[in-house]
Amino acid sequence: MTSTPSPVIAASALTLSLGSGEARVEILRGIDLVVGAGETLALLGPSGSGKSSLLAILSGLERASGGSLSVAGADFTVLDEDGLAAARRGRIGIVLQAFHLLPTMTALENVATPLELAGMPGAMARAEAELSAVGLGHRLNHYPAQLSGGEQQRVAIARALAPKPTILFADEPTGNLDHATGEAVADLLFARAAEAGATFILVSHDEALAARCGRIVRLADGRIASDSAA
Ligand SMILES: Nc1ncnc2c1ncn2[C@@H]1O[C@H](COP(=O)(O)OP(=O)(O)OP(=O)(O)O)[C@@H](O)[C@H]1O
Ligand SMILES: [Mg+2]
Repeated sequence: MTSTPSPVIAASALTLSLGSGEARVEILRGIDLVVGAGETLALLGPSGSGKSSLLAILSGLERASGGSLSVAGADFTVLDEDGLAAARRGRIGIVLQAFHLLPTMTALENVATPLELAGMPGAMARAEAELSAVGLGHRLNHYPAQLSGGEQQRVAIARALAPKPTILFADEPTGNLDHATGEAVADLLFARAAEAGATFILVSHDEALAARCGRIVRLADGRIASDSAA
């Protein structure tokens, strides 16, 4: 008998509405989603279907308007903004399409600083190890402007995984890269997420990339249209 992995995400009837009155938009219209530890899941769907909005809520960057959400053992529906920030720390890593590195910090500092802020011991050594693991051991003291797009995204991957998060989220992580560089970055993301034992949730428009995940969830107009093994 195979045992069901314990859920790291349990979302029920999640809704997101923005604006009020005439301008009110229903962005998510009741999302039920349970994700087990170590799963790899792709979120697909047309532009505007709510993928990034759902990712922002599941990763604690935004609060849902309604429903319940538990992530890595924390009840995200009862936490205020500070509480969410604290709950994210060490639990959740995020990689976005735009790399969002701090331009005045070196690659090493970009990875080490969040670890230092979180009070983790050995931040510099851990950051150096993470950067070496993404093939950037020779670029530690380069600034983002001195790195290619693919290298910058590797730094962002190292930064996201350095705190050893339970869940890694990526929103179109190869969207700003040419095809070959995107493939290499995708390979690295899958490999590093697996090595870290992290649950991996990927938002993408790329069917081939999504097919590398164990499970594919399709959104349409703020609802889950299908949810199946890849
Ligand atoms: N801050 C906001 N205020 C109002 N509407 C918003 C806001 N953010 C997103 N939306 C709307 O919510 C809907 C879902 O947006 P979202 O960014 O989640 O879509 P997406 O599936 O990620 O699309 P894409 O594939 O283009 O990235 C869209 O109709 C968008 O216009
Ligand atoms: Mg999006």
